[in-house]
Amino acid sequence: MGDVKRTSLPHDFLWGVSTSSYQIEGAAQADGRGPSVWDAYCRVLGHVANSDTGDVACDHYHRYREDIALMKDIGVGAYRFSVSWPRVLPTGRGQANEAGLAFYDRLIDGLLAAKIEPWLCLYHWDLPQVLQDQGGWLNRDIAGWFGDYAQLIATRFGDRVGRFATFNEPSVFTLFGYGFAWHPPGATDPAGLYKATHHVNLAHGAGVDALRTYSPSALVGAIHNMQPVRPVSRTVADEAAATLLDEHWNKVFPEAQILGRYPPMLARAIEPYMQPGDLARICRQPDWFGVNHYSPVYAKADANAPLGFAWADAPADVPRSPIGWQMDPAAFRDTLIDVHRRYRLPIYVLENGAGAVEKPDAAGVIDDRERVGYLSDYTDALREAIAAGADVRGYFVWSLLDNFEWGAGYDNRFGLFYVDYQTQRRIPKASARWYAQLIRSERTGVAR
Ligand code: FCB
Repeated sequence: MGDVKRTSLPHDFLWGVSTSSYQIEGAAQADGRGPSVWDAYCRVLGHVANSDTGDVACDHYHRYREDIALMKDIGVGAYRFSVSWPRVLPTGRGQANEAGLAFYDRLIDGLLAAKIEPWLCLYHWDLPQVLQDQGGWLNRDIAGWFGDYAQLIATRFGDRVGRFATFNEPSVFTLFGYGFAWHPPGATDPAGLYKATHHVNLAHGAGVDALRTYSPSALVGAIHNMQPVRPVSRTVADEAAATLLDEHWNKVFPEAQILGRYPPMLARAIEPYMQPGDLARICRQPDWFGVNHYSPVYAKADANAPLGFAWADAPADVPRSPIGWQMDPAAFRDTLIDVHRRYRLPIYVLENGAGAVEKPDAAGVIDDRERVGYLSDYTDALREAIAAGADVRGYFVWSLLDNFEWGAGYDNRFGLFYVDYQTQRRIPKASARWYAQLIRSERTGVAR
C-alpha cells in the first residue's frame, strides 16, 4: 500500500478520540447523579467480569482537565464524548440537575480553550434506571422523553457545541439488551427487541427535531456500528442467519432514519408496533453519518436461539487483535465505500481501535505494537476508501483512555493511554505517541 500512504487527506480532515460517559466518568453518586441501567446491571453477579462496575471508572468527572491536557498533547482536533442522561436528569425527565449540567459546561469550555471541538453524543447506553422502571425502550412514550432530554442538552450547550449525535450503536444496545441478554435489561425477548428497535428509531426522530429546533446551527447525526456480517458456512441456513443479523446490525437503524424504510424481514416483525406516520417521524436527513468499525462479524443458524441465529467465531486462521477480534482492514475500507454508496453523506469514523490485556513492563513502558500495527493498517485502509471516492472527513480512535469495557469490565483495554486504576495515573502507550506523530505529519505534510 506504499502509494496509498501518500494519498493526501483533505486539509481539514479531523483526527479525534472517543469515549463515553459510563465508561470513564465514575462519580456515580456525586452531585445528584441518578442511577443508570448499567449501575443496576453491574450489580448482578455474572453480568460483568470480576463484578466490575463504573462507580469510579477513570474518575474522569474529577480529572477531566488532565484528560483534556492528554488530548492536547496528542494534538487531536476533536473529542467525542457522551452525556450521562441520569447525571443531568436524575429522574429521567422533569427537573434538571444543575450540578450535572455544570460538569459538562466545564468539560466543553475546557475543550474549547484547548481548541478541541466537542462532539456530543446524547445516548451511549446509560439510560436512567427510573425510566427503565417505567418500561424503558419498550414504552413508546420514551420517544418524547428522549426528545425532552435532547431539548435540554441543545438549549444548554448548543451555543458551544456544533456537533450532536443522537445515539451510539443503537443496534448493539437493542440486540444485546433484548436479544441476547448481554446488556441491560438482560432480556431474550424477540417481541421486546422489535418494539425497542422501533422506539429507539422514534426517539432518534424526536431527538433530531429537538436538536434542530433548539440548536439550529448544529450539525446532527447518529453513530452506527457498520461491519460486514459473514455466514460461518455456505449452507442455506447460515446464509439466512447472516442476512437476518445484517438487517439487525447494519440496516434497521440507518435505513429507517435516512431512507425511511425498514429492511424486509424486520419490516414484518416490527409492523405490529407501528402506528400510521411513524416512518415519517423517524426519517430525517442527517448532516453526517458516524461509523464505528472494529472487525467483521460471523453468524450461524441456531434453532434454539431466541432469534434463530447466533454469533459465530471467525475462521481459526485469520489475524486477530490481542483480545481475539479479527483484524481485516480491507473490510473496513469496503465498509466505508459501501456506506458512502448507500447514504451519500459525509462520513466520520467515530470509533476504531484494538483491545488488549496489558500492563506496563518493568520499566513502566507500554509498548503496544499490536495496537500500533492495527491503527496503522486501518488508517491506510481509510486512505484507500477515500482514494476510491468515499467522502470520509474524520477518524476518531476508540479510545483516549483504558476504561470500563461493558461485560469485560476493566480487563480489556482500548486506550491510547494506560490507566492504573489503583492510582488513576495515566501513562501514554506507544500508540499515543504514534497517533500524535501521525496527526503532526498530516498537519505539516511531512511524509511518514
Ligand atoms: C463499541 C462501543 C464502545 C466500546 C467499543 C470497544 O461497540 O460503542 O463503547 O465498548 O465498542
